[in-house]
Amino acid sequence: MTNGEDLSKTTYQHIPVMAPEVLQSFANFESVKTQKELRYFDGTFGRGGHYTLVKNLFPRLKAVVFDQDVTAVEFARKKFQTEVESEMLLVQHANFSQFSSEKWGLFDMMLLDLGVSSPQLDEASRGFSFYHDGPLDMRMNSTQEVTAQMVVNQAAEQELIRIFQIYGEVRSPFRVVRALVNDRKTNPFTTTKQLASLIERVEGWKRKGFHPATLFFQGLRLAVNQELESVESALPELIKGLKPGGRLTVLTFHSLEDRIVKNIFKNSIWGRPVHKKVIIPSREEEFSNPRSRSAKMRVFERSIE
Ligand SMILES: C[S@@+](CC[C@H](N)C(=O)[O-])C[C@H]1O[C@@H](n2cnc3c(N)ncnc32)[C@H](O)[C@@H]1O
Repeated sequence: MTNGEDLSKTTYQHIPVMAPEVLQSFANFESVKTQKELRYFDGTFGRGGHYTLVKNLFPRLKAVVFDQDVTAVEFARKKFQTEVESEMLLVQHANFSQFSSEKWGLFDMMLLDLGVSSPQLDEASRGFSFYHDGPLDMRMNSTQEVTAQMVVNQAAEQELIRIFQIYGEVRSPFRVVRALVNDRKTNPFTTTKQLASLIERVEGWKRKGFHPATLFFQGLRLAVNQELESVESALPELIKGLKPGGRLTVLTFHSLEDRIVKNIFKNSIWGRPVHKKVIIPSREEEFSNPRSRSAKMRVFERSIE
């Protein structure tokens, strides 16, 4: 339980993105599902949406799941208590970059569904959103020291430009950074609204329905959580954690993240990417779940030696 909230009844829902495509990526195990226990690793458990779907398809699934957010871990242990107690599910508070095949063994199926979950975005106190005022936090792992507030108030001007240009994909963040560096001298930033208002003031609204702070917030979040770095360091180790014929499916939401996945999958000597082209959500899904819009899926299969 966190902040006295009953997590099993939480109203913050997370709709699993590209659910049919993710299940399809593991469909090659359907023919053996009654004969053997299949091992599944989920490095981004969230609210267990994908885990539940995979578990329904493979009832004899034995799973190890990670999440770096303690709220997700507490939720998992409570909601899936029966599976935890029967040792069919092991829940670990960890960053997936800490995965090692020596420690956790080999898996048939692995999944990373990157980025933040809807409960993280929707909860104002987590500080991810410019729509809900909250502390400028943005940590997925609340035991980590660096917060968005520290980055915004302490990073050098050049570093902020790099964060917004590279992670946020903002072409020209200079005016915002100049205003931010100037304002923080007398009035340090402490809330999401304060930062969003500054960006709104400097940039103005250029596209209807697209808040001018969107990409700046994305950049800051990726920097605070070192998201690209985690993916880059984790993927080679996750690949080593696949059994021969095992599959690793990755959902990304950022072009740089997708490029990292694409290159590591393409250049790995352990196996090959399953599809030539990246898989994207159906139009129906993009319409019904706007958070799926930037999703891209890639699947890697380890060779049978
Ligand atoms: C998009 S959500 C996953 C949702 C999940 N697939 C579901 O259907 O409920 C991403 C989750 O992964 C976690 N996460 C992101 N990066 C992580 C990392 N490097 N290590 C561990 N957990 C991570 C976040 O805290 C968040 O809970």
